[in-house]
Amino acid sequence: MQKNITRIIILVNQRTEETLRNSRFDIRPTSAAIGAEILGVDLSQPLTPDETEALRGALNDYGVIFFRDQEITPEQHIAFAERFAPINVNRFFKTVSGHPQIAEVRKEPEQKTNIGGGWHTDHSYDQVPALGSILLAREVPPMGGDTMFASMHHAYEALSDGLKRTLEGLRAVHSSRHVFGAAAQYSRDVAGRIGNPDLATQDAVHPVVIRHPETGRRTLYVNRGFTVRFEGWTEAESKRLLEYLYAHAAQPQFHTRFQWRKGSIAFWDNRATWHFAINDYHGERRLMHRVTLEGVPLA
Ligand code: SIN
Repeated sequence: MQKNITRIIILVNQRTEETLRNSRFDIRPTSAAIGAEILGVDLSQPLTPDETEALRGALNDYGVIFFRDQEITPEQHIAFAERFAPINVNRFFKTVSGHPQIAEVRKEPEQKTNIGGGWHTDHSYDQVPALGSILLAREVPPMGGDTMFASMHHAYEALSDGLKRTLEGLRAVHSSRHVFGAAAQYSRDVAGRIGNPDLATQDAVHPVVIRHPETGRRTLYVNRGFTVRFEGWTEAESKRLLEYLYAHAAQPQFHTRFQWRKGSIAFWDNRATWHFAINDYHGERRLMHRVTLEGVPLA
């Protein structure tokens, strides 16, 4: 079974590589489990339908795709995103002046807490979670400030058949309240960069193992940032199994790590990945622009 899955993944990857080569892009995987750098594309130019589909295929195959040296304007960032899905205007993040579709992910030299500094999946607290985000580096520290990504499909596949069977019927409750609400320490620590605590009222229930809406691949869908408990279980009862799953997926064989340069872009799929912004650059500014895409209901 595992061999068949591996063969299918290799075939899908080969198909995408061919499509990308035919459409003048090249593709360079960044780890065995997740991530690929896309070479030979200029995102300041409108994508053709074929190019858009090739990039969508690469996103499905690799979970996160990276681009370098894209000095694009906010309008070009928005136009690129709109090729894939409508934009989700963020409730909590400060936005770029004149561009409410672009959220700022900022840390100033004197600030200690960064945004996204723990494993999480954006928007899992929404009834219809976001497809993914397109993060563009505007200012980066001379070193540090990398982002790690984890493949939730590979993390799921590596579980035992017994645990997979146990998870199959489970659903989990996700919430925005304990992160973005007024009582949350995090929302106080990042005050000025994240706001609207009164809007942090989202609770959603999703299967613990989803079928990815585009690839059909089974994917573990719980995350330390926003998952609160299993449906029908107390938080105390849920804690041990959730902690096991978090520790399992935090193993490095499921990861890739992206070192940013000014003009780098990461485009990730929230249904297939976790991400973690590393906070190791105190005393330096890091400024990113993030556009988030609307998703579809999960099953
Ligand atoms: C985020 O969690 O969306 C931010 C990721 C990053 O800044 O690298």
